[in-house]
Amino acid sequence: MEVSALKIIAYGIRDDERPYVEEWSKDQNIEVKIVKDLLTDDTVDQAKGFDGAVVYQQKPYTASVLDRLAELGVKNLSLRNVGVDNVDADAVKRNDIKVTNVPAYSPAAIAEFTVTELMRLLRHTTQYEHRQAKGDLKWTPDIATELNSLTVGVIATGRIGRAAIQIYRGFGAKIVAYDVFHNPELEKEGIYVDSLDELYKQADVISLHAPATKENMHMLNADAFNKMKDGVYILNPARGDLVDTDDLIKALDSGKVAGAALDVYENEVGIFNTDFGSFDAIPDDRLKNLMKRENVLVSPHIAFYTTTAVRNMVQFALNNNKQLIETGKADNVVAFN
Ligand code: COI
Repeated sequence: MEVSALKIIAYGIRDDERPYVEEWSKDQNIEVKIVKDLLTDDTVDQAKGFDGAVVYQQKPYTASVLDRLAELGVKNLSLRNVGVDNVDADAVKRNDIKVTNVPAYSPAAIAEFTVTELMRLLRHTTQYEHRQAKGDLKWTPDIATELNSLTVGVIATGRIGRAAIQIYRGFGAKIVAYDVFHNPELEKEGIYVDSLDELYKQADVISLHAPATKENMHMLNADAFNKMKDGVYILNPARGDLVDTDDLIKALDSGKVAGAALDVYENEVGIFNTDFGSFDAIPDDRLKNLMKRENVLVSPHIAFYTTTAVRNMVQFALNNNKQLIETGKADNVVAFN
């Protein structure tokens, strides 16, 4: 079979992604150049001669990189993830670059992880692990709470929020939800409250599934925590910027927040997915403050990290890029405002 003339370059390909790129390339009979490095000023010129680029990184897609891509004539950019908060929107617009993302690679991956972390908090598993490592097999002083007796407040009912709701329901929890856009099915079930204040008033657990936008920056801050129930649990598998870390630390100190599971952190770029060799060497005191607490679970942005999700991220992004190149359109074109 003749290899298609179309050529795609894929940046930042990890070892766990490579087989899925190769599988797609073989199935589609399309050449995909695999590059391990991220798309930066230093690597952008490797895109010369390609019709499109497939990318994933947490570091910014800067104006200078996007300008250069456009200069090279590469105007089809397909992200392997959902979030587009690190893409310079002005540069995309002025260069007329078409950007796609993968809005749903596996909502269940994130939802399952979020609920797992909540169960760990409710059952005080960290306390047991720490004590057992020291040979202490006694019950901890803290008795557990059952999820079926709690009200979970879900902020944002997109695909991930809805997948989380399904799981919470399986445990028998009561759900209240807030979103500016109402999902018609959930609307019929009457679970929406009219304001975040109302959600804060009712919820024993806050499950955050909103994107990072200018408006959402630090939506969970001192003011929001004050409106919540005493002993609330906070789950953030979405974006670090949604939570004011200083205010969260104060709310944990005061006991207002009984526990938190954070798969994201405001300053995570360059810190998460890095081995610093020792706890002390982690260059962020606030993060270490959180990590030291038995009632806080910090994980390095891994909620998405399943085989299903990774395969979908890679192959859906490649499909999007192929569509863009062939037709100028794609299933998941991102509208930048
Ligand atoms: C996203 O898809 O935007 C995520 O947050 C997951 C990312 C770490 C791959």
